[in-house]
Amino acid sequence: MKVKKAIIPAAGLGTRFLPATKAMPKEMLPVVDKPTIQYIVEEAIESGIEDIIIVTGKGKRAIEDHFDHAFELEDNLYKKEKFDLLDKVKQSAKVDIHYIRQKEPKGLGHAIWCARKFIGDEPFAVLLGDDIVRSDEPCLKQLINQYNETDSSVIGVKQVPEEETDRYGIIAPKKQDGRLYEVEHFVEKPAVDKAPSNLAIIGRYVFTPEIMDLLATQETGRGGEVQLTDAIERLNVDQPVYGYEFEGERYDVGDQIGFIKTTLAIAMEREEMREDVLHHMREIMEKHKSMNI
Ligand code: UTP
Repeated sequence: MKVKKAIIPAAGLGTRFLPATKAMPKEMLPVVDKPTIQYIVEEAIESGIEDIIIVTGKGKRAIEDHFDHAFELEDNLYKKEKFDLLDKVKQSAKVDIHYIRQKEPKGLGHAIWCARKFIGDEPFAVLLGDDIVRSDEPCLKQLINQYNETDSSVIGVKQVPEEETDRYGIIAPKKQDGRLYEVEHFVEKPAVDKAPSNLAIIGRYVFTPEIMDLLATQETGRGGEVQLTDAIERLNVDQPVYGYEFEGERYDVGDQIGFIKTTLAIAMEREEMREDVLHHMREIMEKHKSMNI
């Protein structure tokens, strides 16, 4: 069955960006000129997704407003013949976006389970807004291709520095075939000296619908939250769940330094900004060199 639906969980509290996220969802923080969640929605569309459900929580209205039609703004831009801006604010007709609320932030696993009725008995994708991937072939498309080959759940993984393994779900690989891994275990945030590998789960997944049954009975795990990784570990007992080391550069926008790096990388992709950004960076470096820092 084709993967046509995707879940974007966006009900977390975004504490790492306080106070910015007191009144604004972290998914709306702009990278250059687009909210982070728009990059994620665009990746889903480019991967062939037709329906997206965004799991929202308290104080997330701005996300719904962002993906709504802005009649007044569009009309104003049209009358002023600002057609390039009009293109930027118009929403894609290629996808329908739906919303569901997670009443309490009980964890990523619980957020996904909240969308179960929308998913029904179909395979589906999950994209986390904390990770932006820049690649020739969209990251999610790469995973969907693997799903189509294996008819099994496929989880996006990437190598991370060994000292950072305690920040991620980590896979213990069993067998490798190119970029595809059979997996022995999925472990949520293992201590650095206990990590079975440095292959970290990055926020892109394709699941068979059975994961929902496991999430329904998943007990709270690390941090008192319903952990998606724990349910994946159980799914892997009943049916194979693969890890796929996708191609592309991954940026962690959920973290402050990661956010700055993402902004710089995306600004550098833009021809009209590249020179100015480089010039400014050189100036900063010169200044710091002369101050001996
Ligand atoms: P994070 O662990 O990054 O949590 O969640 P967070 O609350 O968004 O951010 P910090 O750590 O407090 O700064 C990973 C993803 O899971 C979603 C988040 O919105 C994010 O996309 N999530 C997490 C939920 O939707 N519900 C939850 O209960 C927890």
